[in-house]
Amino acid sequence: MEIVTRAARLRAVLHGARSLGRSVGLVPTMGALHAGHASLIERAAAECDLVVVSIFVNPLQFGEATDLDRYPRTLDTDLEGARASGASVVFAPSVEEMWPGWPEPRATSLVVGGVGSLWEGASRPGHFDGVATVVAKLFALAGPCRAYFGEKDYQQLCVVRRLVADLSFEVEVVGCPIVRDADGLALSSRNVLLGAEDRRAALALPEILSAGQAALDEGEQEPAVVARRMAGALAPGSPVVLDYAAVVDAEDLHVPERLDTERPLRLLVAASVGAVRLIDNAPALSVGALVPSAAAGATSR
Ligand code: PAJ
Repeated sequence: MEIVTRAARLRAVLHGARSLGRSVGLVPTMGALHAGHASLIERAAAECDLVVVSIFVNPLQFGEATDLDRYPRTLDTDLEGARASGASVVFAPSVEEMWPGWPEPRATSLVVGGVGSLWEGASRPGHFDGVATVVAKLFALAGPCRAYFGEKDYQQLCVVRRLVADLSFEVEVVGCPIVRDADGLALSSRNVLLGAEDRRAALALPEILSAGQAALDEGEQEPAVVARRMAGALAPGSPVVLDYAAVVDAEDLHVPERLDTERPLRLLVAASVGAVRLIDNAPALSVGALVPSAAAGATSR
């Protein structure tokens, strides 16, 4: 496995591989790798000839300096993890390599609207602009490839798909399922910042998603009622502070007027536990969308 710190070297290595007919898989990360990242790298290794994992804590996508400073950095173990999961190249540039002149403001940066302005975009102004700018730079350096992103950051995945469509990158975006701990908490690099009590309290997030799914399973058609059921799953006195909990259209992320839609839905939740912000989501099926077959099932039983 080659460790690359220079952008020009990354471009040359990947160009060389493609000219030999090898397909390239790109897994962008901010490091502090865990089994969720590993699942992306393993999938890329199964589907591509050469896998590059980027490890870069991108300052552009952090709001508060403290959040950036506290972000876990574990490069040595990350290199081992990337190698074990099947990476052939790790791209671990310095901030100056990625953003020359940092921290002076850059002249060029992307602005994300539409699907990126809702939910996380509303709660963390500028966050998706920073994500889109760094992902576009990684795509520009990597060249034609498959790029692997987790559904853990579902809205980010939607933003990246739209980025590729709007700016015509030669990149096939592959979405990968969420990896969870045995108790249901979605793996996140930020989980290591949780104390034991907050780690237990954080289970509220998957519980909130289950409450939303339960409401849908009961045939609830009103998005506002589903959202209330989700918020209601939070135990009184819980240290978890809810930011949002909602059922949304899985593609445009808007709250539909009613849930008797054929379109796929997604349950979203974001909350803070102490100073740690966590997000989670799950695919959802509305029973309303299946009314004819559900009714047929009921009579034949
Ligand atoms: P990071 O949080 O390190 O995540 C890197 C990739 O791993 C993302 O695509 C994310 O969705 C995925 N991932 C994280 N936890 C996961 C889990 N439990 N199951 C499955 N996939 C998971 O997301 C970022 O970094 C950055 O915003 C980045 C795209 C690298 C741009 O800086």
